[in-house]
Amino acid sequence: MRAFLVAPIFPLVSAVSVSIPLSAGNSVSPVDGNLFSLSIEQDRWLEWVGNVTRNSFFFNALDNLVALTGADPTIRIGANSEDHTNFNPNVQFVQQLFPPPTTTVPYPEATSIVAGPGFYQGAKFLPPGTGVTWGVNFGGKNLTAVFLETKAIIDAFASPMLANAGITLDFLELGNEADLYKTNGLRPSSYSVSQYTSEWITFATNMSRVANLAGSDTRIWAGSFAGSSHSSTDFSPQGIFANHILSSEPGSFIDTISQHHYSGSFCAGSGGLLQDLMTKATIRSNLTIFTPDIEASQDMGLDYVLGETNSYSCQGAPGVSNAAGAALWTLDYALFATQLGISKVFFHDGIGFKYNLIQPVTLTRSTLDGSPLATPLKPHVQPQYYAAIIAAEAIGDSGNTEVGELSINNPRISGYAFYETGSLKRVVFINSLAFLSGTTSRTSTHLDLTFSGTGTKPTSFSIKRLVIGHADDTSGLTWGGQTYETSDARVGGTATSETGTVSVGLDIPATQVVMITFN
Ligand SMILES: *[C@@H]1O[C@H](CO)[C@@H](O)[C@H](O)[C@H]1NC(C)=O
Ligand SMILES: *[C@@H]1O[C@H](CO)[C@@H](O)[C@H](O)[C@H]1NC(C)=O
Ligand SMILES: *[C@@H]1O[C@H](CO)[C@@H](O)[C@H](O)[C@H]1NC(C)=O
Ligand SMILES: *[C@@H]1O[C@H](CO)[C@@H](O)[C@H](O)[C@H]1NC(C)=O
Repeated sequence: MRAFLVAPIFPLVSAVSVSIPLSAGNSVSPVDGNLFSLSIEQDRWLEWVGNVTRNSFFFNALDNLVALTGADPTIRIGANSEDHTNFNPNVQFVQQLFPPPTTTVPYPEATSIVAGPGFYQGAKFLPPGTGVTWGVNFGGKNLTAVFLETKAIIDAFASPMLANAGITLDFLELGNEADLYKTNGLRPSSYSVSQYTSEWITFATNMSRVANLAGSDTRIWAGSFAGSSHSSTDFSPQGIFANHILSSEPGSFIDTISQHHYSGSFCAGSGGLLQDLMTKATIRSNLTIFTPDIEASQDMGLDYVLGETNSYSCQGAPGVSNAAGAALWTLDYALFATQLGISKVFFHDGIGFKYNLIQPVTLTRSTLDGSPLATPLKPHVQPQYYAAIIAAEAIGDSGNTEVGELSINNPRISGYAFYETGSLKRVVFINSLAFLSGTTSRTSTHLDLTFSGTGTKPTSFSIKRLVIGHADDTSGLTWGGQTYETSDARVGGTATSETGTVSVGLDIPATQVVMITFN
């Protein structure tokens, strides 16, 4: 093996040797086509999906992923506004009150949402087969509200339009980030995990009976906390288990622990912040903190998801969360999550939020500072959407793909190998060094490929690249020469074709993703 610690001929090019196992070993994780899922801020949910007619932009953006993976989309509708929602059968769709926009929060969440039957029936506009998690108001501590909302949700999913399309209520969630109730005024400042668990059991007993969970396939997401103490005496999966949530009547319907996570909270952005977000080590340290919680959940036979996550809270940091570099963060974050036993990652999106994968409606004020836009912004995808597409292509439609992270001795390069029925199919490499505008020389890293294990060693591969001008660009990305920045969210442009050989290896410039597919 050659040593690549120095690259004397091309000072800008470093090199690294990557060993790729030919077959899936013990360290791979199963990965479903819907690893990339969405969490939708529920107040403006009908703008996402459509009220009277389908929002075809949103539909197409989801359907692109279905076409690549064959997997049914999974979405969660809820979040902060879930705890401010009430039901009124006399409202057709929804009535809501919004605070005024501010520079840091250009698209504030509604403070009051009164949903009617049409609010929940809107799910009929989702792609056929979509599995939904719906959040019910627990913040209001009002049993009648829980009862009415649950009944409205159940009625909507029982209607022929949803049932015939196979659009299912997979999960109910009761309350959003209850670990913050003691600071946001929804409960007293002394609110403890034991008080929470006993209240939750009371309310969830009503919810599970009203929804007849005993006679259906719908299950419950538990937790949904903003953070975790990892301790049995405070808010965490361990804390609710210690308070006997699982042996309660509604606890028997808990199937999944949902954890929320943001990498930090920044209402202003900078190039340094973008590089921090993209950095391999911080992506890993942001997720490995949950290892004890994942193990505790799996020990109870429960699935573990990131039910609400994205880059930086404050609806994203301007110029960072909406930038091309965030697409690399998104991809590395979701793929690394699989390695820890996280089965799905629900990226949180709200109308006009800075960290969205998709902006599904026309926007009339800037997502960055709330200023009125001279020209309204039509529906569009943001850079992070490309990460969902790349993951979908890498996972493919086999229905039995496994993914393993490659051990790469470089702080900027990460890599993942994808296997179908145990055989190597594709590898994704990410170079997370931020190439920012205003910088002139773009470095590149040479990857030398070797194989380990038994099996036929491939000699050549095809290459697709996520080409990005600068990490802080907010548009103009291409994947394999094609764009998703189109008026209908369908792919546009002509695919480029590039091939490579194992003996030569390949180069990956700073701020780029490369996927190689073995023939
Ligand atoms: C349906 O949604 C559109 C677009 O958001 C809105 O303009 C319209 O008022 C809504 N219709 C009803 C009946 O709420
Ligand atoms: C749920 O709570 C509502 C409101 O208090 C009550 O009317 C209803 O009977 C309860 N249902 C069940 C099954 O406990
Ligand atoms: C509880 O919810 C019901 C239904 O939304 C509402 O009519 C009632 O006023 C609420 N009670 C309180 C104390 O807010
Ligand atoms: C998460 O990532 C951010 C950078 O995006 C970093 O500042 C923060 O320290 C990381 N948190 C953990 C727990 O590693």
